Amino acid sequence: LFTAVEMAPRDPILGLTEQFVADTNPKKVNLGVGVYYDDNGKLPLLQCVQKAEEKMMAAHAARGYLPIDGIAAYDAAIKSLVFGADSEVVKAGRVATVQALGGTGGLKIGADFLHKLNPQAKVLISDPSWENHRGIFRDAGFTVETYPYYDADKRGINFDAMLTALGTAEAGTVIVLHACCHNPTGYDLTPAQWDQVVAAVKARKLVAFLDMAYQGFAQGIAEDRVAVEKFIASGEDFFVSTSFSKSLSLYGERVGALSVLCQDKDETARVLSQLKIVIRTNYSNPPTHGGQVAATILNTPELRTLWEQELAAMRVRIKQMRTAIVEKLKAAGVQRDFSFIAHQVGMFSYSGLTKEQMLRLRNEFGVYGIDSGRICVAALNSRNIDYVAECIAKVVQ
Ligand code: LMR
Repeated sequence: LFTAVEMAPRDPILGLTEQFVADTNPKKVNLGVGVYYDDNGKLPLLQCVQKAEEKMMAAHAARGYLPIDGIAAYDAAIKSLVFGADSEVVKAGRVATVQALGGTGGLKIGADFLHKLNPQAKVLISDPSWENHRGIFRDAGFTVETYPYYDADKRGINFDAMLTALGTAEAGTVIVLHACCHNPTGYDLTPAQWDQVVAAVKARKLVAFLDMAYQGFAQGIAEDRVAVEKFIASGEDFFVSTSFSKSLSLYGERVGALSVLCQDKDETARVLSQLKIVIRTNYSNPPTHGGQVAATILNTPELRTLWEQELAAMRVRIKQMRTAIVEKLKAAGVQRDFSFIAHQVGMFSYSGLTKEQMLRLRNEFGVYGIDSGRICVAALNSRNIDYVAECIAKVVQ
């Protein structure tokens, strides 16, 4: 049965972690996967999560099946987080939200549903994009192509080319957009550019699918909603997948969601019923623990405040690491101007290092980043930053 089965390539992000774990170099640093570590290099267990778990443990709740679409209080909290606490579209019952297995799960549920609706549609992802976007939409049955995004010479966004691609896409094409903290480049659209993107999506009758895995890591929870708000104002239907992997440091709990904005209550009920079929036929219903933790935090005012403080601290520390690495590279004698790292946002920096340089960093120095040149700035800390700067200095000279 399996004689013809070929060995699949290693995952470009999670496969790297496997290699990192096996590396015996005591100085090794993992700047590959998008995970936030604190200044001691530790994966944080947030205070708000600990307090929520204490509350949950005290309640000694049994673990029945969750509803197919997840915990009702969780879905309600997602709606207010993603669309805003006073959102008119939420009040009008126009948002279908389902709990999902991380942001990836939200993308997959949306992709499967969209493919049932319009199997002929093309999907456009940004060039470059998160490494898994292509696979998720391709394996849902779509032809996946790209729209221009990153401009290496300018170290920024090739916005004119992006807009031209959207302006010539066929009606019904699904456009996957990074709502904030573009992964991998760290370059986000300005609010004025979002206006133009939204107008192009509307004019060409395209379908926007926002991936918002990093809400709160660019400017703040409300500020990072800018793309969502502009799509709401356009009156168009759209999809948005979200995740608590990073913002609650709940990576292994797989806590995310998919929300779909519809035209009215009746349409929302019909869309929700179809999303539930996708979930039921894939994994039946979501797990309890992570969703309950998130719901407890978001629906308990003091835990919510604590979370916002902890999230802000993560955001600020990443920014400090951006400035620090720029300075350390200069101090290590690097001539090339790396000041752009301080202007990028989110967890990542598209460093501009070549694949060869990334391989040297990994193989000679145990510094792991993605072949594309992406490094996770959120994994830098005061203990490893000098070493990382020295190693980068060696490979760029
Ligand atoms: C990343 O981009 O590193 C993260 O989103 C983790 C993942 O699943 O790829």
